[in-house]
Amino acid sequence: MRKKVSIIGAGNVGATCAHWLVAKELADVVLVDVIEGIPQGKALDLLEAMPIERCDVSIVGANDYAATANSDIVIITAGIARKPGMSRDDLLNTNYKIMSDVVSKVVAQSPESILIVVANPLDAMAQTAYRQAGFNRQRVIGMAGVLDSARFRTFIADELKVSVENVTAFVLGGHGDTMVPLARYSTVAGIPITELISPERIEQMVQRTRDGGAEIVKYLKSGSAYYAPGSATIEMAEAILKDKKKILPCAAYLDGEYGISGYFIGVPCKLGAGGIEQIVEIKLTPAEDAALKKSAEAVKNLCAVIGV
Ligand code: NAI
Ligand code: 2OP
Repeated sequence: MRKKVSIIGAGNVGATCAHWLVAKELADVVLVDVIEGIPQGKALDLLEAMPIERCDVSIVGANDYAATANSDIVIITAGIARKPGMSRDDLLNTNYKIMSDVVSKVVAQSPESILIVVANPLDAMAQTAYRQAGFNRQRVIGMAGVLDSARFRTFIADELKVSVENVTAFVLGGHGDTMVPLARYSTVAGIPITELISPERIEQMVQRTRDGGAEIVKYLKSGSAYYAPGSATIEMAEAILKDKKKILPCAAYLDGEYGISGYFIGVPCKLGAGGIEQIVEIKLTPAEDAALKKSAEAVKNLCAVIGV
């Protein structure tokens, strides 16, 4: 039997997740949105591409949650997105209400599912979903680090004019201005970029990574990024669906790891059939550790506003 993935929020990120999922023939897909007709129309449009793509999957759209029953994974993108001049944190109160409502409906239909949270502000929304779902922490995961790392990888590959396939990078911390791109753990064919690029130039690329979301918002004006966010989300879903045991930077609920307890923050995680199967603790320098703790403090402050 094919796996089933439901996507809540059939807007830009949700529809793009559906696109990547079915193009890779990873699962049957259910798209849900509050707007009547949008999930149905996008689902049918995608379904009609399947003969061309030679993919045998079902894609349905719905406005209620019955169709999502017994999903293996539920991706939650429902919420408002940034407009120019807004930070991710400006979305907090609106998206908190949407996330709480959505998660209660998701859990009623799919009590064994794994949740991948995408809506912003990401770490606080993952915390909201975790509290609302009552799942163990292995089954609630936030998507941000894969996206932020992909942006950093893009800039590194462009700087050195090498294949993106040669570049790995790790961006930890919260998905906001305090994110922590780790140059020491970012490599080109195994060589740390600190051996290949000047510290000043690395710092510029680190800052561009931190501003990566805003750079796209400035161009689009009416919303935020969705191609790379969709791709990043589906890399995580694929690792779970195929039980790949893949190490990816994900927002995970920490319980003492990295000296942080009680909050979601981006750290390296092993993703497999059980969701987060291991949180990998890497050695940080005092400066990197301080930056991660500062980022956790920012997440804590946001969570305090919504009381999660
Ligand atoms: P969008 O506006 O294109 O789509 C959001 C969709 O959610 C809309 O279709 C809307 O009707 C729907 N929605 C709103 N309330 C709902 C509810 N109660 N139930 C079901 N659907 C509901 O926005 P986009 O670009 O898809 O972004 C979605 C969210 O993802 C935003 O919060 C954005 O900031 C966030 N995001 C997070 C990223 C990350 O790295 N974690 C990357 C990109 C976006
Ligand atoms: C991004 O980083 C808006 O969080 C979203 O593009």
